Amino acid sequence: MNFELTEEQIAVRDAAREFANTELLPGVIERDSEAKFPAEQIKKMGELGFMGMMVAPKYNGGGMDSISYVLAMEEISKIDASASVCMSVNNSLVCWGLEQFGSEEQKEKYLKKLATGEKIGAFCLSEPEAGSDATSQRTTAEDKGDYYLLNGTKNWITNGNSASVYIIIAQTDASKKHKGINALIVERDMEGFVVGKKEDKMGIRGSDTHSLMFTDVKVPKANRIGEDGFGFTFAMTTLNGGRIGIASQALGIASGAYELALKYSKERKAFNKHLSEHQAIQFKLADMATKIDAARLLIWQAAFLKDQKKNFVKAAAMAKLFASSMAQEVTSEAVQIHGGYGYVKEYHVERLMRDAKITQIYEGTSEIQRMVISRELLR
Ligand code: CAA
Repeated sequence: MNFELTEEQIAVRDAAREFANTELLPGVIERDSEAKFPAEQIKKMGELGFMGMMVAPKYNGGGMDSISYVLAMEEISKIDASASVCMSVNNSLVCWGLEQFGSEEQKEKYLKKLATGEKIGAFCLSEPEAGSDATSQRTTAEDKGDYYLLNGTKNWITNGNSASVYIIIAQTDASKKHKGINALIVERDMEGFVVGKKEDKMGIRGSDTHSLMFTDVKVPKANRIGEDGFGFTFAMTTLNGGRIGIASQALGIASGAYELALKYSKERKAFNKHLSEHQAIQFKLADMATKIDAARLLIWQAAFLKDQKKNFVKAAAMAKLFASSMAQEVTSEAVQIHGGYGYVKEYHVERLMRDAKITQIYEGTSEIQRMVISRELLR
């Protein structure tokens, strides 16, 4: 692997950095405090090509590699992790899943609009009783000949209210266990589909996380992704890629907090010298920077393997496991360096510390990542 970025990758990273600083930074504290979805900003991200970065140009995407995507994810996440989770789900779970496994008709009808951000997508696996234990789906998709009858509830769905295209994982034949599960594309205005309550979250408060309810929703067979019974493999395979996006989000949150702490340490004086002149602070900064670089290398490795069409399952899970716990440590240290200022909202690091926690939970908890890694090691 060549660690030198190409001119195109640098341009993508710089464009994401510029956008984050000019368009996302203003108002990020207010959006967090009011739990307001960054709708205008996401629209602009779509116009700039950040919502379907890896999608082929023939489906209106950017045709970029995964390295460009993780660079952009890091930059957006440094400033606004609520915007970056919307971006991550749309790019890695919805667009990638549809492009890899969807029919030509589904790509024409849905992917083309998702790739430009004209429509936002949601990936709906979690349920009140099936988060980590993904085979225990209670949502049912009964086979009725030319359509499925969808009934059930999904929980903690990112983009729950802002989306208009939803990929729903549901059980068609419980006797076949995970091989009886299907992935269905559901549109926002299908009869019997209701968006439920919005979650009042600890972090990523600007992202809209909702429950979804389905009562006798008729989903045409043409909206099933892949063959009958492919839904669980679809979800697992898509999540493998999604974990690279969330790892990059964790990396961005950590590097954002680190950059703020570094700057603050050069400005703030204590005991007649800058914080940065105290060895206790220097050592903290050294540890933070080392951990951030280690996470970045794991993420780039996973992205590189994915681009090479090699097995990236273990690398992606390792990247997410390491980056998400690293983000906990680094954001906490950033608050520590800021002292009392770090504990109040205007200095950003307290938000980043709250935002970091979710990266250890969604798209598979840290415990799930260890299961995925050990399965790959032992098989
Ligand atoms: N990649 C591809 N296939 C996989 C896989 C992976 N990582 N893990 C399992 N599979 C396949 C297996 O090969 C097996 O298929 P076959 O029978 O055809 O061989 C099948 O799935 C079942 O495997 P297991 O019996 O091992 O399944 P399990 O019940 O023990 O669970 C698990 C495996 C890894 C724990 C899985 O349930 C899992 O990943 N759970 C976490 C789900 C998750 O990430 N949820 C987060 C919700 S989505 C989200 O957060 C989006 C958001 O809003 C941000």
